[in-house]
Amino acid sequence: MSGFARHAAVACLAVALLSGAGQSPAQAPSRPEALLRKMTLDEKLGQLVQRAGGRSKALNSRLDDAELDRVRAGTVGSYLHVAGAEPLAKLQKVAVEESRLGIPLLFAMDVVHGYRTIFPVPLAMAATWAPDAEERAARVAAEEATSAGLHWTFAPMIDIARDPRWGRIVEGAGEDPYLGARMAVAQVAGFQGGNSLRPGSLMATAKHFGAYGAAIGGRDYNTADVSERTLQEVYLPPFYAASRAGAGSFMAAFNDIAGVPTTANRDLLRGALRERWGWQGLLVSDWGAIGELLNHGVAADRAAAGVLALDASVDMDMVGAVYADDLKDAIAKDPARLKLLDEAVLRTLRVKEQLGLFDKPFAYNDPEREARELGSTEHRAAARAVARQSIVLLKNDRKLLPLDPAKLRSIAVIGALAADGLSALGSWRAQGKADEVVTVLAGITAAAPRTLKVLSAPGADPRNADLSGIPAAVKIAKAADVTVLVIGEDYDLSGESRSRSSIELPPSQLALAEQLLATGKPVVVVLANGRPLALSAIAEKAPAILETWMLGVEAGNAVADVLFGAYSPAGRLPAAFPRATGAVPSNYSANATGRPADPDLAKDTVRYHDLPITPLYPFGFGLSYSAFTYSELAQSTQEVGPGERIDVSISVENTGGVPSDEVVQLYVRDPVASIARPVLELRGFKRVELGAGQKKRVTFSLSPEQLAFWSNRGQWLVEAGRIDFWIGASSADLRAQGSFEITKTHTGSAPAAALPTRVIVSNN
Ligand code: NOJ
Repeated sequence: MSGFARHAAVACLAVALLSGAGQSPAQAPSRPEALLRKMTLDEKLGQLVQRAGGRSKALNSRLDDAELDRVRAGTVGSYLHVAGAEPLAKLQKVAVEESRLGIPLLFAMDVVHGYRTIFPVPLAMAATWAPDAEERAARVAAEEATSAGLHWTFAPMIDIARDPRWGRIVEGAGEDPYLGARMAVAQVAGFQGGNSLRPGSLMATAKHFGAYGAAIGGRDYNTADVSERTLQEVYLPPFYAASRAGAGSFMAAFNDIAGVPTTANRDLLRGALRERWGWQGLLVSDWGAIGELLNHGVAADRAAAGVLALDASVDMDMVGAVYADDLKDAIAKDPARLKLLDEAVLRTLRVKEQLGLFDKPFAYNDPEREARELGSTEHRAAARAVARQSIVLLKNDRKLLPLDPAKLRSIAVIGALAADGLSALGSWRAQGKADEVVTVLAGITAAAPRTLKVLSAPGADPRNADLSGIPAAVKIAKAADVTVLVIGEDYDLSGESRSRSSIELPPSQLALAEQLLATGKPVVVVLANGRPLALSAIAEKAPAILETWMLGVEAGNAVADVLFGAYSPAGRLPAAFPRATGAVPSNYSANATGRPADPDLAKDTVRYHDLPITPLYPFGFGLSYSAFTYSELAQSTQEVGPGERIDVSISVENTGGVPSDEVVQLYVRDPVASIARPVLELRGFKRVELGAGQKKRVTFSLSPEQLAFWSNRGQWLVEAGRIDFWIGASSADLRAQGSFEITKTHTGSAPAAALPTRVIVSNN
């Protein structure tokens, strides 16, 4: 069956399932179907209503008597911004025991990178290039959240982001659709505990479908104006992968794509997601987004907005109450809309059933389990392990790092961020608590032997322009053998609605860095930030730079592990670090153009004349305390046809004498095609553990469909011809090159970047 025929078949099956067609008359209706038949119009609309049980930081605060009455009346289907095994059991009891049909509620929260045990922010976890680490983090978050009464998280956020001005780049996996797809799949599996919803799962939400990350200028909520090809090849693959991985829920993005607000995008939501991809989960709007269709200017009134969203197949209305208040009349005017409503209600009831809530509505409400799970020693150990894996070593002149504590008498830890627990938690901290964070200062202090004196001073705070603390910090740094300078952004500079017009260091941080670097003493810059930064002002002068993002509750221990050499850093950048804000975007996977980027040419090439053409730190880049050689490139075949695979393999040897991971990366290029193709595309990677002197062989197994592009006819097309490939240590450090031939032009069935490359690691 061709890709499109397969899609069509899946779509027909989906429609048949929904309409109940093909059922023998004797077959009993499913529980959701039976319930649907009994529901009044108000109860149906009620199922699609999601209300806020509190403000994001004051959970449960709105759960008053009037709210309980709403639940009794069956006019609420779900709550967000709620938590706690006991309070949610009380609320659930009202729903199942006091409402007419006893339909359980769904409890939701943004459990993004941890619930109580906060892991690194998602951008940092993407820097692990280790999907198993992402999966573990999501599993821990799910274990904690489901013990605290929650059924549903609004995560993973899988928007591709190529503009670091966008504050929400911190919530995703960065610039690349292949890396993004792998991280999306890992998180869905981690949250849900597998590839389908089952009793006890924390339902995952793939968000914000489909091009929220492409907001023009990086201004949050802004229009995305991307070509159909870019949409299909770059922005949608993680979503396709998440749909295949069984994400129970999707969230539609706030923004519009070329004038079509996603909340009302029938072609994308009902057409692509449901009918062509065959996904039948629960589609939720973003906060108030149905009502915002009026602001977009595509609906004259709330009823019209509700109809647009329902028609596009948005099932649940997050806090806007448009469905609840304004759809009734619209349905009375056109009873055909009732069918759409029934479908949405059925999908909502189905996930409640899949989560086991009809049979065991209180299964998520065990206070003893909650007390045991939250912040457990085991969970904190997992957070520390993932935090270490997230750290990226950007520079290490003359092997300044790792520091040998036995050889040092004093160390200065400078920077307000060094003692800022709240900022280590980053955006979306759920129930994370600042006082449970091991800050960088605390981590270094705990790791330092008695003979090593730890001095500290805040110097300057990224939140303000006060430079009065800098002289004292300089004095301390001068008195110490080495300085660890913690600078960057506080938690409030990245995240939703936190776009910045400049990605340089905040002015106070830059001033602090400049004065400390001018002391001539050895300074290790420890960056704490939620986006790629333009570091040109300090990159030359600083002898060592560690990118530590916002690492969660174990931040300080993880940083100390790396600083003192207990762990060799091996994280890799999931997005390029441009040289200046004006160099955005700096993504590696761009088309060649007619005047390709050439670092040796000063002009007549696709560049700014006042900046080198390369980013300061490229995608996939990161150093370690060791060194690796790549050798013996081999491939299983020279030619590959439809349905076949090609294996390419390489040996990687740790020659630097220090045990360390290495992230082996596979890139491809289609050098001559009917459409200009990117100069490089990531199509495989593996974080490999290598002892000192150890050598391993890494084999990537690819299918031609992974080379497909979105043709002008709106199909995935694999063209016959040569494909070049490279294996290397970053997008700018390619160590071995080969090529093979695709023998036959044929159509593909899925977004190329969504398809996983199989990887095998063997001992040489
Ligand atoms: C708005 C954000 O865009 C979304 O990501 C989040 O899940 C909801 N608010 C709920 O907090």
